[in-house]
Amino acid sequence: MEDSLEDLLEQHGGDCGDEDQPSAPEAKFRSSRMNIQRSSVCSRAYFVVVMVFFHVYILNVIGLLLYVHYNNGPGELVSEDGAPSASISDRGAALPHPDPAASDLHVEDYSQSVGLPRIEGIRVGHVQQVSLLPDRTHEMRTMSLKPLLFEIPGFLSEEECRVVVQLAQLKGLMESQTTTPSKEQEESNQPLLSLSTDEVFSLLDLNQDGLLQHEEIVSHSRSQDGTWLNPDNLRQILTGLEACPTGTLTLEDFRLVYDVSQRPGQQQSAKSRSQFKQRNKNTWLYQGPGSHHVLQSLRNRLISLTRLPSTLVGLSEPLQVIRYENGDFSNAHHDSSPPQSETTCTHTRMAGNKSALTEVSCRYLTMLFYLSSVEEGGETTFPVADNRTYEEQALVQDGVDLTDTKETCGRGNIRMKPSVGTALLWYNHLSDGRGWMGELDEYSLHGECPVRRGVKWTANSWVNVDPDHQQQARYQRLVAKRQQAKSGMEEHYQPLSHSDLHQDL
Ligand code: OGA
Ligand code: CA
Ligand code: FE2
Repeated sequence: MEDSLEDLLEQHGGDCGDEDQPSAPEAKFRSSRMNIQRSSVCSRAYFVVVMVFFHVYILNVIGLLLYVHYNNGPGELVSEDGAPSASISDRGAALPHPDPAASDLHVEDYSQSVGLPRIEGIRVGHVQQVSLLPDRTHEMRTMSLKPLLFEIPGFLSEEECRVVVQLAQLKGLMESQTTTPSKEQEESNQPLLSLSTDEVFSLLDLNQDGLLQHEEIVSHSRSQDGTWLNPDNLRQILTGLEACPTGTLTLEDFRLVYDVSQRPGQQQSAKSRSQFKQRNKNTWLYQGPGSHHVLQSLRNRLISLTRLPSTLVGLSEPLQVIRYENGDFSNAHHDSSPPQSETTCTHTRMAGNKSALTEVSCRYLTMLFYLSSVEEGGETTFPVADNRTYEEQALVQDGVDLTDTKETCGRGNIRMKPSVGTALLWYNHLSDGRGWMGELDEYSLHGECPVRRGVKWTANSWVNVDPDHQQQARYQRLVAKRQQAKSGMEEHYQPLSHSDLHQDL
């Protein structure tokens, strides 16, 4: 056995191949003996090799599963056919609900317990069916992998777009005096939204603390958007407020003093509209409890699609509505910021002692809703999407700066034409590999081409996440504590987060 193995190694260098032919007839016997030995040696070696491969394969599979698990957070997101496994109705059970009030939540475990899921892009052009509403499904198309960018046509109905535009107009984003509204626009503004008492309360409650403060009513009376509260309404509300010992109105108090029948009617609104002044090109709409049901539904759809914890989404910026007119554009930019030790996130600033640091926006993802179609121009451009590499120097090509959207809009790798009701979703950050938010995705650079004809209305929904998950956890606990405190003593005026954002009225 030992001899023959040596022979074998000598003659064939340990190769198990069978192509050797003994050249001389006297070698025949030796050769056949050797073949017997060789086949047994070969099968053992073969077995060892197969076993090694098998183990390496198993280890690879386990590694891959662990990688997928930690990248997607707890709970796999996409069912076999690529459709999300949870519809809006079963979200409550499926979502990992962080309970910021729970004092036993260890901050170290935060990213483990509340991972940030990411939708899988699969490949450019891949279409997945997503279930966002009980009565229909939507198609979501992967537009690029760097950044991970999706398009969802019909995310909003045209009617819903109209409602959001009107709510923004009511809140302070007015028709421009300089442009005469086209007939189509005039029609699209009709009829004026019929707002319930609760919705009027929500629009007036600028800091969204569930109470109407004197300043909020007074600031409204000073604003130009008096089309949905006439002087009588305002006087009644102020009188009611002054009569309240607490100096604030709860929703119940408000119901008693606000007379819906006195709200200005449609015939007046046409006249008032002609007096609209453009005060701002953008405004913020709160989407939480008490807000218009379309705004709440939009937020629920976002939660359903992204599978992000509803608490996290609920503590994010309000919906930003922007109006672009002829010639308006914006240069290419990132919506979020790279995690750096010398900066702190604006949204969690109240939970930190980092007041000396520069505040930056921390936005894990962007959902952009097109609330109108644009006749010409106004595309959203992603100049470097899916480039092989990202280098800042490469942004200047032949002396042309790709971030200068006005000049180079046509050269972007991806250009999305605004189409009413379509939503875009992209991730501004990569994963940190442990289920939390990591580096800024440089490829998420985007800009807006100049509007050439028509008016462009968009809304941005940003989900704020602090790359420092301990800071995010502290912030959530702090908000929960303040909410508890507030429900304990309603009379105290405690502005919640984002109150500053509502001061544009
Ligand atoms: C933004 C933005 C794109 C668009 O508001 O930050 O990039 O096409 N918008 O409106
Ligand atoms: Ca208030
Ligand atoms: Fe942007």
